[in-house]
Amino acid sequence: MPDDSPVASNDVVTMDKIVSLSKRRGFAFLSSEIYGGLGSSYDYGHYGVLLKNNIKAQWWRAMLQERDDVVALDSAIIQHPRTWEASGHLAGFTDPLVDCRTCKLRFRADHIDQSACGRKPSKHPGETPECDLTDARDFNLMFQTTVGPVQEEGSIVYLRPETAQGIFLNFKNYLQFSRKKPPFGIAQIGKSFRNEITTGNFIFRTREFEQMEMEFFVPPPEAGQWHQHWLSERMRWWTGLGLRPNHLRLRAHDADELSHYSSATSDVEYLFPIGWSELEGIANRGDFDLTQHATFSGQKLEYVDTATGERYVPHVIEPAAGVDRAMLAFMVDAYDEDEIEGERRTVLRLHPVLAPVKVAVLPLVRKDGQPELATEVYRDLRERFQTEYDEGGAIGRRYRRQDEIGTPWAVTIDHQSLEDRTVTLRDRDSLAQVRISIEDLGDEIENRLRHPWRSPKLGDG
Ligand code: GAP
Repeated sequence: MPDDSPVASNDVVTMDKIVSLSKRRGFAFLSSEIYGGLGSSYDYGHYGVLLKNNIKAQWWRAMLQERDDVVALDSAIIQHPRTWEASGHLAGFTDPLVDCRTCKLRFRADHIDQSACGRKPSKHPGETPECDLTDARDFNLMFQTTVGPVQEEGSIVYLRPETAQGIFLNFKNYLQFSRKKPPFGIAQIGKSFRNEITTGNFIFRTREFEQMEMEFFVPPPEAGQWHQHWLSERMRWWTGLGLRPNHLRLRAHDADELSHYSSATSDVEYLFPIGWSELEGIANRGDFDLTQHATFSGQKLEYVDTATGERYVPHVIEPAAGVDRAMLAFMVDAYDEDEIEGERRTVLRLHPVLAPVKVAVLPLVRKDGQPELATEVYRDLRERFQTEYDEGGAIGRRYRRQDEIGTPWAVTIDHQSLEDRTVTLRDRDSLAQVRISIEDLGDEIENRLRHPWRSPKLGDG
């Protein structure tokens, strides 16, 4: 949960600025806006889709391509309803709900500021009433629906509140068909659904969101060391993609915060404009899930070593992150404002591998053969990178448009380009422009994409 500690940063970024940029440039829109919007539901526009795709691609890369002990899964959103009995979600996936008799709003009992009467003090002009709360009651966060044409008791199913359970249900398949032996992991990215009570804060907490989860099955005595391994791996991933280390921390859960399945959890927290808040949870789930599903399904969910006869129920280490929340963290971390030649600019200093568009191709003027050559360069580059062509308006304004969506490089075609087939390559952060031959452009961008990257917001220190 977001804490109230002051944001220890001299950042210019605020949540309002991120929301406004997102809408202005098509990263994310409030869902169903023409009908007044649907609470805590967002639609992702062109650049939002590209940014989220890049985040997911980097996660898959870290899980699958850079390791040989993790495999992929894409399980169904709707599982057998017994799944949620076994997992404990039906009984225990609840938040304490209270109603306020003064402002008529509903709150999570543990998220409320009573002195301001919930979140809407302006509803009571001239007074600052205290909340007048009902007793807390448990509210289950799972969305319910029915399968088939008849609505009856047996047809009730749930939209999954986490992707993890689909992995546990498939554990046996991976042992049998993939001949996997612990330690090994199963990873998936997919939508999850929670009927959250406390919403707001843009895409930080929504009712429909994407998770990147991996269940890593290990011999029980090795659980502690694998938990440590994944804590450092996941921190390396976030910082490797440019999040500033002084805005990231690991925080171990206190005993009373632990989920029903967890014996130890640490959160990766990011310093959002709303304060330090969870970005990813890394839990030691022990053998809770496999044991529960074995009991409820009557199936044996254990690893058997056919050579030695050894058998055990593996313990599970789970790094679980949200795609939407990751997108918000990367945008917040990247957001900057500066001044170029007396003009203010907004710039997203995203890690180049995450940037929605890698390179923009801009003819200096819309005549003298420059658009034709620029189109040739654009067609060539888009074979290798997400590329944009823009010939509309003053060159300065076109740079600004690209800066705002985080495009790391811009190629400008000018009169010299037609004489010697060279172009200028402009860097979003340093603003350095180098002259380079059209033939070398693709390789140069490729090389730059491979370079380790450090947020310019960290300065030179
Ligand atoms: N399987 C474990 C699990 O689901 P969690 O801490 O509830 O753990 C993992 O969720 C991550 O999913 C969170 O760290 C967060 O990034 C993301 N997440 C959870 N609920 C979310 C919501 N309502 N909106 C957006 N992201 C959410």
